[in-house]
Amino acid sequence: MISERVKAEAAKLREKIRYHNRLYYAEDRTEISDGEYDALMQRLIELESRCPELASEDSPTHRVGSQPLSRFPSILWDPPMLSLDNVFSAEEFGEFDRRIRHELKSEDDPVYSVEPKLDGLAVALIYQDGVLLRAGTRGDGSDGEDVTPNVRTLRSIPLKLSSDLSGNLVVRGEVIFRKNDFQKMNRDRESRGLELFVNPRNAASGSLRQLSSRITATRPLSFIAYGTALWPDGITSQHSLFDFLGRLGIPVNPYNLVCRGAHEVEKAYHKLEQKRDEMPWQIDGVVIKLNEASLQAKMGTLSRYPRWAAAWKFRAEEAVTRLIDIEIQVGRTGKLTPVARLEPVFVGGVTVSSATLHNEDELLRKDVRPGDMVIVRRAGDVIPEVARSLGRSDSKRGKRFEFPVNCPVCRGPVAREEDASAHRCMNPSCPAKLRQSLFHWGARDALDIEGLGSKLSEQLVDKGMVGDVSDLYRLSRPQLASLDRMGGKSADNLLSELRNSLSVNLQRFITGLGIPGIGRTVSGLLSGRFSDLHKLMRADVDEFLAIEGIGPVLADNLYRFFHEKITRDVVNRLLNAGFNPKGSGTDDGDKPLLGLTVVFTGGISIPRSEVRIMAEKAGAKVTGNVSERTDFVVAGPGAGDKLRKARELGLEIISEDEFLRRMIGDGGN
Ligand code: IVH
Repeated sequence: MISERVKAEAAKLREKIRYHNRLYYAEDRTEISDGEYDALMQRLIELESRCPELASEDSPTHRVGSQPLSRFPSILWDPPMLSLDNVFSAEEFGEFDRRIRHELKSEDDPVYSVEPKLDGLAVALIYQDGVLLRAGTRGDGSDGEDVTPNVRTLRSIPLKLSSDLSGNLVVRGEVIFRKNDFQKMNRDRESRGLELFVNPRNAASGSLRQLSSRITATRPLSFIAYGTALWPDGITSQHSLFDFLGRLGIPVNPYNLVCRGAHEVEKAYHKLEQKRDEMPWQIDGVVIKLNEASLQAKMGTLSRYPRWAAAWKFRAEEAVTRLIDIEIQVGRTGKLTPVARLEPVFVGGVTVSSATLHNEDELLRKDVRPGDMVIVRRAGDVIPEVARSLGRSDSKRGKRFEFPVNCPVCRGPVAREEDASAHRCMNPSCPAKLRQSLFHWGARDALDIEGLGSKLSEQLVDKGMVGDVSDLYRLSRPQLASLDRMGGKSADNLLSELRNSLSVNLQRFITGLGIPGIGRTVSGLLSGRFSDLHKLMRADVDEFLAIEGIGPVLADNLYRFFHEKITRDVVNRLLNAGFNPKGSGTDDGDKPLLGLTVVFTGGISIPRSEVRIMAEKAGAKVTGNVSERTDFVVAGPGAGDKLRKARELGLEIISEDEFLRRMIGDGGN
C-alpha cells in the first residue's frame, strides 16, 4: 500500500518537473539550477522505484534514458552520417593524397572537391517525391534526433523541391548562422537582458534543438548542403551533385572548388583561408573529398570516417601582445567575468584591445598576470580570448590575480554557484543587475507579481524610481501612472499586486532574493526547516549544512547573504516594508531570540527592567546603543535619535506588540 503522502509527493514532483521542462524546452529559460532539477528528478526516480505502482507511462522519468532527457523522437540513419578524419598540415595532407594514389593504383593526380568546412550542426533532410518529409540531427551518426517541425521553419530549406523528383532523396548538410544574423540576434538578446550566445555553432545547435518550433522560427538559421546519403541516379561526382542540388532549390556553398592533385588543394586551402573573413558564415577549415563517386566507393569507409575525405582545419588566428591589466565586468545577471585589457594588437582581421578570460578557473589554469606577454586568439566571430601566457622576459612577474570577494560595482558579496565556474554578485540591488533582480522578484515562482515584467523593471530602474527591491513598496500611484504604457488602471493593479505580495511565504520570499544557487527547490527546503525569516537569518553555516540538499557552497552563500551588511540591509528594508514571511519549520525551542542583539527605544508599556529580563530569558542580548551589530530595534511612541540611527543603518524596526509575538516564538515578527 502506498501512503497518501508518498502519492502526493510524487504527484507534486511530476508537476514541478513538467513545469521546469516546459520552461526549459519550450520557453528557453530556467528558474532552477541543473543541480536542483536533478535533485527533483532523483527523488521522483527513487519514489517510483520504491513503489512501482506509482510509475505511470506519462511520468517525466520516462524520458530519462542512457542519454538523459532525450527530448526528441529518434531518427535512424542508414548509411550512417559519418564524421571526418583530420589532417593538420600540408605534409599530412600529402600523406593522405599518397595513400589514395597508392590504393587507387593511379599515376594521375586525383581530382578533389575542396569545400569550406562550415561550423554548425549536421542535419539530414528526407525528401519523398520532392516533398520534405522528415529531418533530423546527426546524433551519434546512426541515431539522431527528429527535429522535423523545427527544420521546417528554416527559410533556406525548401519544403518542396523545385523540380519533379520521384522516390527518396536524403540531403545532408550543415545548419548554421550567418555572421550578420548571429550578431543581430545577440544584439537583440542583449537589449532584452538575455544571456548571449557564445558562438554561432552553439547557437545553431541550441536553436534547432528546441521543443517548440515557434522558438526555432524566431532564430535566423540557414542551411547549406554538402552531400546526399546515396548518389542520386545519374550523378557521378561531388560537383555534379552540387549542381543537381542547386537545381532543386537546395542551397549549396558557392565557395566549393575543384582541384587536381595535392599541390592545387594546398593552394585552395590558403585561398579559402584568406577569404574566410569575407564569407557570410563562419568556417573553421576545409573539407577535401575525392570528387568521383566511383573512386569514393573504391576507397570505402572505416567505422566512423570515410577513407576518401579529410578535414584540414585552419590555424586559430593568434597574436602576441602585452596584458596591461585584468578587470572584472559585471553582467546583467550579476555574473563576474575577468577581462584582459591588452595593448592593441591586430588579430584575425580586427584590432583587439580586450579579451575574455572566462572565469576564475580559466584564470588560474592559464596563470595570466598583469604585465605578462600573452597569446590572444580569435576564431572567426568568437569573442577574442587569452589563450595562454608567455610570462615576462625579465622574470619579474606581477602578482597573481585574486578574484574579488566583493562586487566591483556595488561592493556586495560575491558567491560561486555550486558545480559552476561562474561567480555572481549576490546583492539584488547591485546597479549592474537591478533590472534583472526586479524582474526576478516578480517572477512566477518568486513573489508572482503580475505586471512586473522586464519592460517595467527596466523603466523603473532607468527613471531612477527604484534603487533596490524594497523601493517597489514605496511607489505611488502617480509615479506608476506616469510610466510608458501604464494608465491609472494598470497602476492600481500593480499596487494591489504589490500589497498582496507582502503576505508571501518564506519559500517564495527566499526565491525572490535570487541568491546564487538558491532557487525554488532549495528555498523550499529552507522554508521546511525554518519557521520564519528571522530564524533563518540567524542560522549559522552548520544549520544550513544540516539540511539535506544543501552543500557547503550553498550554505556559505546563504550565510554570507544574511550576514554581509549590503545584502542584510536589503532584507531589513523589505521587512520594514511590511514583509513577514513564514516557513513551515519547527521553532527553535524556548529561546526564540537566541543570539540576537536588541535595543528598546521610545514608550513601551512594560517597565524597561522587566522587558529586559524577558528578552534576556528568550536568549537576546539587550544593549542601549544602536549599532551595526544590533539585530532589531523595538520602538515605541516618542522614539527619537536611536530610531533615526536605526533607520540610517537600515536596521529592522518593530513595535512592542511584534516584539511580544516574537518573544513567545510565535513564528515571526
Ligand atoms: S562531409 C562523409 N562536408 O564537419 C563526410 N562535412 O567534422 C561527412 N562539415 O559532421 C561530412 N562542412 O557537420 C562534410 N563541406 C562539408 C562540411 C562538413 C562542415 C561538418 C559536418 C561533419 C563535420 C565533421
